[in-house]
Amino acid sequence: MKNRMPVAILGVLLLEGAHPLSLLAESGLEGWLRYARLPSAEAQKYVSLPAVAVLFGDSDVLGSAQGELIRGIRGMLGRTLRAEQALPAESAIVLGTFDAVHQAFPELKSPPALREDGYWLTTGKTPERSCLIITANTDRGVLYGTFALLSRIARAESLDDLNEVEQPAAPLRWVDEWDNLDGRIERGYAGNSIFFENGSVRSDMTRAADYARLLASVGINGCAVNNVNADPHALDESFLPQLARIADAFRPWGVRLALSVDLSSPKVEGGLDTFDPLDSHVADWWKNKVNQIYARIPDFAGFVVKADSEGRPGPSSYGRTPADAANVIAAALEPHGGFLFYRAFVYDHHLDWTNPKADRARAAYDIFHPLDGEFDDNVVVQIKYGPIDFQVREPVSPLFGGLTKTNEAIELQITQEYTGQQRHLCFLIPMWKESLDFDLRANGSSTLVRDLVSGETFHRPEGGFVGVANVGLDPTWLGHPLAMANLYGFGRLAWDPAMTSHAIAEEWTRLTFGNDPFVVRTIDAMLLSSWRVYENYTGPLGAGTLTNILGPHYGPGVESSERNGWGQWHRGDHNGIGMDRTVATGTGYIGQYAAPVASMYESLATTPDQLLLFFHHVPYTYVLHSGTTVIQYIYDSHYEGAEQAADFVRQWETLKGRVDEERYAEVLARFEYQAGHAIVWRDAVCNWFLRTSGIPDAKGRVGNYPGRVEAEAMQLQGYVPADVVPAEDASGGKAVVCPEPLQECQATYIFKGMPGFYEIDVEYFDLMSGQSKFRVLVGNQLVDDWTADDHLPGNRLSGDNSTRRRITGIALRPGDKIQLEGIPDGGERAPLDYLEILESRK
Ligand code: GCU
Repeated sequence: MKNRMPVAILGVLLLEGAHPLSLLAESGLEGWLRYARLPSAEAQKYVSLPAVAVLFGDSDVLGSAQGELIRGIRGMLGRTLRAEQALPAESAIVLGTFDAVHQAFPELKSPPALREDGYWLTTGKTPERSCLIITANTDRGVLYGTFALLSRIARAESLDDLNEVEQPAAPLRWVDEWDNLDGRIERGYAGNSIFFENGSVRSDMTRAADYARLLASVGINGCAVNNVNADPHALDESFLPQLARIADAFRPWGVRLALSVDLSSPKVEGGLDTFDPLDSHVADWWKNKVNQIYARIPDFAGFVVKADSEGRPGPSSYGRTPADAANVIAAALEPHGGFLFYRAFVYDHHLDWTNPKADRARAAYDIFHPLDGEFDDNVVVQIKYGPIDFQVREPVSPLFGGLTKTNEAIELQITQEYTGQQRHLCFLIPMWKESLDFDLRANGSSTLVRDLVSGETFHRPEGGFVGVANVGLDPTWLGHPLAMANLYGFGRLAWDPAMTSHAIAEEWTRLTFGNDPFVVRTIDAMLLSSWRVYENYTGPLGAGTLTNILGPHYGPGVESSERNGWGQWHRGDHNGIGMDRTVATGTGYIGQYAAPVASMYESLATTPDQLLLFFHHVPYTYVLHSGTTVIQYIYDSHYEGAEQAADFVRQWETLKGRVDEERYAEVLARFEYQAGHAIVWRDAVCNWFLRTSGIPDAKGRVGNYPGRVEAEAMQLQGYVPADVVPAEDASGGKAVVCPEPLQECQATYIFKGMPGFYEIDVEYFDLMSGQSKFRVLVGNQLVDDWTADDHLPGNRLSGDNSTRRRITGIALRPGDKIQLEGIPDGGERAPLDYLEILESRK
């Protein structure tokens, strides 16, 4: 191989200069691969690190490993290793597959059973030198070992007596990206696609390559780049050379390209009159198509299929099964080593709400369990962690235990569709761990989900992990600098699902923000509590995220899931709430679990509180194991969650000066927004339950908001009241808007409280259809002005786009006139909800 010093590395070297990187502004583009200069006390640990990086072998992947090693050491320690191809006379860091390394160090014995993609970090001695060795059976393993070594250095861990063997739990570790060919991303919250724009593959593949590097650093080896709601044109022969460019960008990082495909492609794209999987012309079509792909992309990983789901075409059109559909495509992929991931997310979205036995949760098991054993060996059934759809809390899908002769993969959602869309902090690893560590008792003994999906339990040849990532062009990749902890954590769990949430949080924080113990402790604590906090102010006791399921899945919309065919029901009415899924009186869903698990959920006495409403319908007065009633729990948890969200702001503020200013400010703004939106959630959910149940909050909070002045109750000039639907999404059920053709409106309030310093919260709506301007005056003095230019979902006033401006430290005296001025823009008519005047925090 040529002496490589990849251009990217040279760029980094030139940019760095001599500054300590840790407090320089950071965009987030590097993710956790920042290689920030270590403080000297930490760097001291590596003074005796060799000065040479020797690479045995010449593949692109090995080249990436050597380049990365040089880049990382240069960044963290300020030293540029010399790149060599043969052992020098001095000590060295040696990279290569075991066969190659063994020739130089004949006494080295390979660790037993080092599997594909696993690696070994060790030391090797010859009389002349002592070397640090990164080796594996495959080039990809060497790359993974290199990232592991660099991670150790970034986290200031010792390299003494290095002898680390690491193996991935499962062979298939993929991410799915739901990118459309026009560049938009379904459920993507970080800008447009890094792969596609305007129907073509982007000309610049820099971000695609950068992404593959991030993926490789946590052991991800496959990436399906287009939406599961697939555009058949992705398979156009003319499109394949474009897709090959993505594969080329991935290849040096050991990431294989995969595609989502539409089952009707043979008809829609191929011009056949059928896509019946049992038709021989259809089989031939798939074979030809797959051959065309492999001619362009020899390491193509395979396909992902969403069929008979949410309106997608599927084998049911011809009375065929998912196994029929999967196998015909799998047969085409098999000779090339490709895989077919068939999603178990198959359900009828026209369910009959009036039928108490109808239950969407049953669908995956009812459909796929009878097919166990019928799928080919290169088919993997891809199962969402819960039986509904990425809700903030669900029990684990019983299907994981229902397939003993079929490969399976767990599908986790990194993009926070139902968990705050990256505007809210929600570290999902603890939630995923609940699923992965759950014991389904599938064969009467212990069968943890993580062992089922890795293929270990039932000795399946394949198995794995799929994360729906949906990264975008935003420099932070996911839209919130802290959301990257979820992508990192997904990779780490796919590699080793036995890792603890705490260990993952700690690794990520150190890599992303450095090793200052105060910073690490603070961020870890925030990450680790954040899922529970989000659950607290959104979805109680397994009822699901109480979001608007007919809209963007973001703000509150408690009733949107009821009385329609989507089956995301919680059946909340005047008397009680929850889905009766028992075998005795309900939908029978619980019977899909093995007996020990089923009997736990069947009985109210043994159902955990956190899943109560998923499994049972109970009156609001039902007393939880914790001793509170369901209704009081709903009120309490929502108040607690909103308070915890406010506390994130305070916790983050303690990091000022300890993390770089750019990320500090960006994350602070996110937390301030989250704290405000948590109150929107709290109030909407609590008021809905108060109205529906008629049971007041024992603590008197719900419906009573001291310091709050409804906009519609202020003295209005130009502004007129407007209904908000659902009513609980606005305080008092109403907002005010500045109607056309007015160009400015005012709302005025005369302050009546005690003299003092106050915070003034202005709750307003920030729609996509315009950028209104707001001004706040106290007396004649302008105290704040801003433009409503956030990107919140929707053009209709709702809890999706209700947001808060906090004006702090305002001196108020009784009789002061507080005046809000709104200047509308386009379809956004400077809408206001309320003003809240609170005594300043001491
Ligand atoms: C969710 C999501 C859809 C997506 C679907 C899927 O329902 O809202 O946008 O297509 O999951 O996983 O296929």
